[in-house]
Amino acid sequence: MKTPVNIAVTGAAGQISYSLLFRLAAGDFLGPDQPVNLSLLEIPPAMKTLSGIVMELSDCGFPLLRAVTTATEPETAFGDADYAFLIGAKPRKEGMLRSDLLLQNAEIFSSQGRALNAAAKREVKVLVTGNPANTNALIAIHNAPDLPASNFAAMTMLDHTRAVSQLAAKCAVSSAAITNVAVWGNHSCAQYPDLHHAKVNGAPALSLVDKAWYEEEFIPTVQYRGGEVIKARGSSSAGSAANAALQHMRALVLGTPAGDWASMALLSDGSYGVDADLVFSFPVQVTNGKIGVAQGLEINEFGHEFLLRNQRELREEREAIKHLL
Ligand code: NAD
Ligand code: LMR
Repeated sequence: MKTPVNIAVTGAAGQISYSLLFRLAAGDFLGPDQPVNLSLLEIPPAMKTLSGIVMELSDCGFPLLRAVTTATEPETAFGDADYAFLIGAKPRKEGMLRSDLLLQNAEIFSSQGRALNAAAKREVKVLVTGNPANTNALIAIHNAPDLPASNFAAMTMLDHTRAVSQLAAKCAVSSAAITNVAVWGNHSCAQYPDLHHAKVNGAPALSLVDKAWYEEEFIPTVQYRGGEVIKARGSSSAGSAANAALQHMRALVLGTPAGDWASMALLSDGSYGVDADLVFSFPVQVTNGKIGVAQGLEINEFGHEFLLRNQRELREEREAIKHLL
């Protein structure tokens, strides 16, 4: 048996975590021979609920689950963390934009950035899910100056899996037949779900669907899906968000399949002309543990406009929280 890895999860009593924790403990992240220690962070009013979740984790008798600890201090929760899922943050309600959460949630990510900087392993992989995820990740990066910025990402894998699923349904194939979907920009309604490079069983996706469907149905469906789930469920996506968080972290550990990519929001390195100090979603390849933006993709005028719109939106978000950078 391998040495256990330390996985920190914030917002551990919330609804995303209620789906994620059981899958982490069951081995859905790192496989059936990797024991895990879970370190769960919550705010004091949620500790009672969290104690019930800890009982349930214990009651499952997961063979891979070695230890579960809880904390209200981020530095304690992140001690020696190999992986950190930063989920704890307010979710939006019907009628709100994710950016409406910016000022309410921003400070969580400055204090958690500092705590990761102080206490986590230097190679810790950090996934920011709490909204607005891109700018929260930017805040965490700026507050963790001793950790490589490439250790951090914001979650756009849910947008990616939504896009894959919509295309698979349209083409009446399994989602396994779909490759090279890309989500660019912000995890907001401005995002650009791009099918120009996508393939369905190896054939160009845009040769199989018509332009009107792509532009007038597919793109808005993916952009506004989060709000539609809120309208229907009365609360935001949770099971699908937990699944996307796992897929993101699995891609980091196992790599992306040859020739394909995942969508992840990373600190821009200037690729595709995106400002360097923004966390922006790109198609990302992970090979032998090395993470990089997929290069050389042609972006037409239609796509370029989307990239500019996302850049403008993210610049505005950065301006609103510049006191935390
Ligand atoms: P939730 O309200 O069910 O749970 C959030 C939990 O975070 C609560 O238990 C709360 O007590 C805890 N919390 C609040 N402040 C904290 C802090 N400082 N430290 C630790 N824990 C803290 O919300 P949820 O549905 O689990 O969603 C969590 C976040 O994820 C929201 O911001 C939501 O908008 C976002 N989200 C993002 C994506 C994405 O694709 N990026 C998808 C779904 C949801
Ligand atoms: C989502 O995309 O489902 C999440 O970001 C939650 C939300 O507010 O839409």
